[in-house]
Amino acid sequence: MKQIPMLDLQLEYQYMKEDIDAAIKECLEHQKWILGPEVEELENKIAEYLGVKHCVGVSSGTEALVLSLRTLAIKLKGLEYFDKTDEIITTPFTFTATGDAILRAGATPVFVDIDPTTYNIDPMKIKQYLTQNPKLKTRGSTNIVGIIPVHLYGQPCNMDEILKIAQEYNLFVLEDVAQAFGSMWKEKKLGSIGTTGAFSFFPSKNLGGFGDSGMVSTNDDTLAELMRMLLKHGGKDKYNVDHIGYNARLDTLQAAILLAKFKYIDEFNERRRKIAEIYNQELSGIDGIVLPINHSTTQSFNNSTSEYHHGHVYHQYTIRVNSGQRDELLKYLKDKGISTMIYYPVPLHKMKVFDGRCAVNGSLKESDQVVKDVLSLPIEPLQNEKETKHIVDWIKNYFGT
Ligand SMILES: Cc1ncc(COP(=O)(O)O)c(C=O)c1O
Repeated sequence: MKQIPMLDLQLEYQYMKEDIDAAIKECLEHQKWILGPEVEELENKIAEYLGVKHCVGVSSGTEALVLSLRTLAIKLKGLEYFDKTDEIITTPFTFTATGDAILRAGATPVFVDIDPTTYNIDPMKIKQYLTQNPKLKTRGSTNIVGIIPVHLYGQPCNMDEILKIAQEYNLFVLEDVAQAFGSMWKEKKLGSIGTTGAFSFFPSKNLGGFGDSGMVSTNDDTLAELMRMLLKHGGKDKYNVDHIGYNARLDTLQAAILLAKFKYIDEFNERRRKIAEIYNQELSGIDGIVLPINHSTTQSFNNSTSEYHHGHVYHQYTIRVNSGQRDELLKYLKDKGISTMIYYPVPLHKMKVFDGRCAVNGSLKESDQVVKDVLSLPIEPLQNEKETKHIVDWIKNYFGT
């Protein structure tokens, strides 16, 4: 039976083998393992690609979030950490690291519900929290300091609305771009719009290394300088430090591999879009499935706050399966050799780690519902049309169409 994985990193390696092997060999020859020349080269290339002043390589996407927040605390408050009265608004429908970074930076996460048509934080609900929160009126006992929009599955958040709110309430915007390398909001690359952007190069990401690594993007000179201090123990001078720092450098070897893979990022994102187009065409009209918002579905969403732009890079192609059939479909496809994944089965506000440590904006009913419905289908950029159609055929078979 043909097995179809979510991703096939072996296949991708074979496709880029010459470039990757040459990059690794170069490192073996120069032996500059800590902050070697590849780190700066990657930072410069990605800064140019995104259209930002600074990119700072770090050891993971999680550290990119934590370092962004820590540097913001230093810049905005003159303190090493935020404190519990500092609130940061984000989505509960994301990977744990987004919320966890807020706790690690000392602040309180405020979970605001998503727009179910995009799975991203709903700007109208952010506005609602800001206008209805009675504590805001006294500003002082509680201080809402920022927003972390997460471009989930590679789909851009509505950055116009988010920036408008941020400007009105004087909030920073930290874009969580872990899943959306190369994606755009209108004419701008994600990660170039907010105060900072946090990228992950986890192996399964659109641009993924051979281990953990990440990057922060920013146009802010002070934040970039602080970031470079914090990632190497907290000082400009490693042996005489100013801040509570980390060992969170981007590894030279990862940077070299990422440089080799970076050459392919636009091609691979385009391949993902082509696979998504096949899914969109083949699966549309099946009763019981909701497809990701796309060109052909935009019209029906005119009344919502969501806005579709062709920036989606389909880190995941995620459908909603209604009527409680999601888990049954997952098992059905597994029996046919087709892998699928649930991103994410538990919203952050239901996790023990956030219990008593977060605030919520009223009901989070959309997030509570989508965790029961979502199913991500295989979207390996090198997956061929026949394989995509094979997946489609079994899904149609399940629904009897
Ligand atoms: C939305 C989101 N934020 C943050 C992270 C954390 O990135 P990393 O695994 O590189 O620490 C991830 C990836 O796993 C993610 O998907």
